[in-house]
Amino acid sequence: MHGMLVSMDAEELAARWRERLESWAIPEEIMARAPVDPWSHSPERFGTRTDRALAEPDDGPTMTRLSEALPDGGTLLDVGSGPGASSLPLRGRIGHLYAVDTSAPMLEGLTLRADKLGVPVTAIEGRWPDVADRVPVADVSIAAHVVYNVPDLAGFLRALDAHTKGRVVLELPHRHPMSWLTPLWEEFHGISRPVRPIAEDCVALAAALGFAVHVEEREAPLERFTSLEELAASACRRACLDPSRAEEVAVTVLELGMWPMPRDRWVTIWWDR
Ligand SMILES: C[S@@+](CC[C@H](N)C(=O)[O-])C[C@H]1O[C@@H](n2cnc3c(N)ncnc32)[C@H](O)[C@@H]1O
Repeated sequence: MHGMLVSMDAEELAARWRERLESWAIPEEIMARAPVDPWSHSPERFGTRTDRALAEPDDGPTMTRLSEALPDGGTLLDVGSGPGASSLPLRGRIGHLYAVDTSAPMLEGLTLRADKLGVPVTAIEGRWPDVADRVPVADVSIAAHVVYNVPDLAGFLRALDAHTKGRVVLELPHRHPMSWLTPLWEEFHGISRPVRPIAEDCVALAAALGFAVHVEEREAPLERFTSLEELAASACRRACLDPSRAEEVAVTVLELGMWPMPRDRWVTIWWDR
């Protein structure tokens, strides 16, 4: 028996993905005292990211794989679009953009930018795949920086595949996007945080679902924070600390050698149908 080579089936990998994501839950007593929702994404922050992506075109694998698969004037489906950082840079090429997001403010940011750029857009507010039947099949689809929010990853990927004629592209950081906070959770709450799931777990599941996956990896084109102050404010939110502790957090970050922060590794996963 080649134990190492026994491949797991999709159902087992999907269950592991869910369990591993659940292991990131914040202990109830800490959550109860959180001044703000530690998991929330800020539409302003993602708006800035989108404007930077529009101003400095990125020739990394995600944009390259999308661009080469998108027919001129073709339809693009962006799931978990935010304000559009991973779709709007293809502006001149898009015939129609379908953007799905659970957050109305994120979609407002996207519609505003799409209108300015002259990209025809339909915004669909709701959770993928629950709203999938309101979305037509697109030429190409993208889900960037979303999968670590998705417990039922198999259902999410299957619906994405079923709504795509040509190519599906995913982008995700190599490790969970809250991983950078692990030393601060140790320091301020005395608890250790998980490591998994990582990008390979998503790759393994997509492959087990029968998709002919390709994987490319690179250094993130953008740094996560432009100043120590910005990092400290974010750390307070994410680690359930009162914002008045930002200075203390900044001192700890320096003591722990966490600043400047190394860039993340970003992974692009794609397959053709
Ligand atoms: C980290 S942001 C990434 C935004 C954008 N794709 C980018 O690359 O900058 C994740 C976005 O996905 C949305 N989201 C998370 N899970 C979702 C789901 N199952 N269906 C639709 N939107 C989702 C969130 O509201 C948020 O706007």
